[in-house]
Amino acid sequence: MDKHKNKKPIKPLATGDKTIPPEGAKMIPIYIMGREYMIPETLTIMKATEYAGYQYMRGCGCRGGICGACGTFYRFLGDYKLRTGLACQTVAQPNMVIVQLPFFPSNRPNYNLGKLENSPHEELRRLYPEVFKCVGCGTCTRTCPMDIDVMDYIALMKRGDLKGASIKSFDCVMCGLCAARCPAQISQFTAAMFVRRLYGKYVLPTAEHLKKRVEAVKAGKYLKMLDELTKKSADELKKLYTEREREPDMTEPGKWMPKETKYL
Ligand code: SF4
Ligand code: SF4
Ligand code: FES
Repeated sequence: MDKHKNKKPIKPLATGDKTIPPEGAKMIPIYIMGREYMIPETLTIMKATEYAGYQYMRGCGCRGGICGACGTFYRFLGDYKLRTGLACQTVAQPNMVIVQLPFFPSNRPNYNLGKLENSPHEELRRLYPEVFKCVGCGTCTRTCPMDIDVMDYIALMKRGDLKGASIKSFDCVMCGLCAARCPAQISQFTAAMFVRRLYGKYVLPTAEHLKKRVEAVKAGKYLKMLDELTKKSADELKKLYTEREREPDMTEPGKWMPKETKYL
């Protein structure tokens, strides 16, 4: 007999676009922080968690698979395998046992990119010596919800290939799941961020348009606009946002310009 058959469905607590249970959806059991909940199928883990009555104070940001705030570990009942995903992207399935990892204590040493004490590779060795203790187990690669070959970018870092490591790690959303499972205790994602910063500062040519924009920001070009914005009410801001000029989908890069150019 299905032990969940007579379970009373819980009342959805979340509103708006956070939880929209599909009409007549089948209810499935999941386990959040060790407690069982019946939720409609097709919800993401994030929406299922809200449906179950939890309110996110941390561990939720973009809801679109970009910010990495919602790294999640889960197992299926009776299955040995520990799985990972982003809560906002992974659809909840029956008998998932879920825990979210909204933050992972990683190695984040202080450094000043403008004043390196050694060559970039030596700086990597000084700040992140554990990177060189990678045992090549591949757990990080199997863990990454972005399908990044984490072990490979660590190997490239060890070889001093800043460009290769930067490109390979570019899609990292900083969820920290790889570091949570590394037997060598490497914080792969913060080390990779350091390497991308080194690559951006010392190897890549400066982007002229970015240089101009930074100069304009530093010269205070946008302060007046910011000041005007901060004085507006929430309703005025909503109106401005919904009525803003938008770039049409599928525009050729560099072709579209807004009609209002005074803030560019
Ligand atoms: S490399 Fe690590 S921190 Fe980055 S997305 Fe993959 S698992 Fe998350
Ligand atoms: S989990 Fe750690 S030790 Fe294993 S391959 Fe990845 S970085 Fe290396
Ligand atoms: S909430 Fe941003 S990646 Fe999930």
